[in-house]
Amino acid sequence: MTGRFDFVVSYESPTPLIERRGVFLLPCVAAQVFRCPVIRRNAILRGVLLTLIGPLLVGCERPGPIEFVSSEKVLALSPALQAQIRQILDKECGTPAQPRLLGDGSVATDHLLEGQNVYMQRCAQCHGMTGDGNGEAAKWLYPRPRDYRAGKFKFTSTPFDYRPLSSDLVRTVRSGIPGTSMPAFNLLPAREIGAVVDYILALTRRGELELQLASEAEGTDEALPEETIADLKGVVLERWNEARSSAVNLLSSEPVFTAEKVAAGKQAFLTRGCSKCHGEDGRGQTVDNLRGDLKDAWGHVTRAADLTSGLLHGGHRADDIYRRIFNGTTGTPMPSFQSALAGEPETIWNLVGYVLYVANRRRAGEMPAAGMLSLPEVSTGAKTAGLDVNEE
Ligand code: HEC
Ligand code: HEC
Repeated sequence: MTGRFDFVVSYESPTPLIERRGVFLLPCVAAQVFRCPVIRRNAILRGVLLTLIGPLLVGCERPGPIEFVSSEKVLALSPALQAQIRQILDKECGTPAQPRLLGDGSVATDHLLEGQNVYMQRCAQCHGMTGDGNGEAAKWLYPRPRDYRAGKFKFTSTPFDYRPLSSDLVRTVRSGIPGTSMPAFNLLPAREIGAVVDYILALTRRGELELQLASEAEGTDEALPEETIADLKGVVLERWNEARSSAVNLLSSEPVFTAEKVAAGKQAFLTRGCSKCHGEDGRGQTVDNLRGDLKDAWGHVTRAADLTSGLLHGGHRADDIYRRIFNGTTGTPMPSFQSALAGEPETIWNLVGYVLYVANRRRAGEMPAAGMLSLPEVSTGAKTAGLDVNEE
């Protein structure tokens, strides 16, 4: 899945040199050309030239400045409160020209500006300048690009509803999210990935503080007092501190996925609640799923994954799938089975084995039939039909 979506990643940087020069050069050249007597006398020639140069002039317009837009929640408040919240955010989280990472003064402005440069070139068209998931391309995409402002991330190594680790975000940016429009940026230098991830963190914490402030200000017309602002800042930062020490370790190490384990995994899949959402065959063909009843934390319709699609969004490695089952997927209806399966490390691995098995069937040339997978080769205790269930 590497680099497959690179074609969508072309984007203008905020102030590319060629555009800066173009803005001044092209009108000068055009003025000189139109001074030529031959051209001045010949209307047809003038028309042709204008048609050629016109689009160039328009195309060389410099992109507008970077601006953070206020959330709908803030825009619903009184003008005075809106102004106060914008002022607090500028002070705590910086401005586009001088971004800051809330709660971490050790992150240099230059580093964040480097991240901003990468972000504006490669991410903003989907994730939006403010990180609100409303980039120009967003309305065409399913799933929608992440709106960072809620502070919620799906593919983390931390427990359900916890903030992610920076290393989780680095991994996602590097590998992309298979089966979605989120590209893999595996060719970006590590330094740029580090910078863009810190810039995302700055946008995320800014969005979280904005949400806290707007919720607090709802239904009043009075300015927010200083101590309330400090408390809300604490609420935002506490969640990130809490996540730092809470990465979930695997309960036991990865086994060899024998046919017996896959069969036991299928049994657990049918009896532990998985099939209620994912369907008995893992294709997600349940009534609720097809009706689009499930919603995610961002208010979008979501569906229990089709585990047979061969494109697991959270990654294809056994430990990726383990984390999806054990930690759940924050922001989505995919629950954590941490407490339900805490005493059964083997069952978790069996489920992983079964998910790997169904996820690889199409790759092995088998089209799962509608309805329940029969798994005949498993019930006889034979090998899983030559499938390499550890295949990447
Ligand atoms: C073509 C659109 C597109 C571009 C360009 C893009 N993304 Fe994404 N991104 C997405 C989509 C769609 C998702 C959500 C996928 C999902 O919910 O499963 C996403 C999700 C994410 C997530 C959230 C992962 C999680 O665990 O929830 C991060 C972080 C992210 N993108 C970072 C970036 C960065 C950094 C860049 C630029 C270097 C970038 N994206 C460029 C579409 C894009
Ligand atoms: C309440 C409904 C629900 C239940 C119960 C449920 N899931 Fe899910 N599951 C989801 C949804 C929704 C998603 C998609 C999350 C997203 O948007 O990425 C998902 C995603 C997953 C994924 C990640 C797929 C990917 O693309 O990476 C795996 C693996 C998974 N589920 C396995 C299981 C297993 C195993 C069980 C039972 C132990 C289970 N699920 C129970 C709703 C459910």
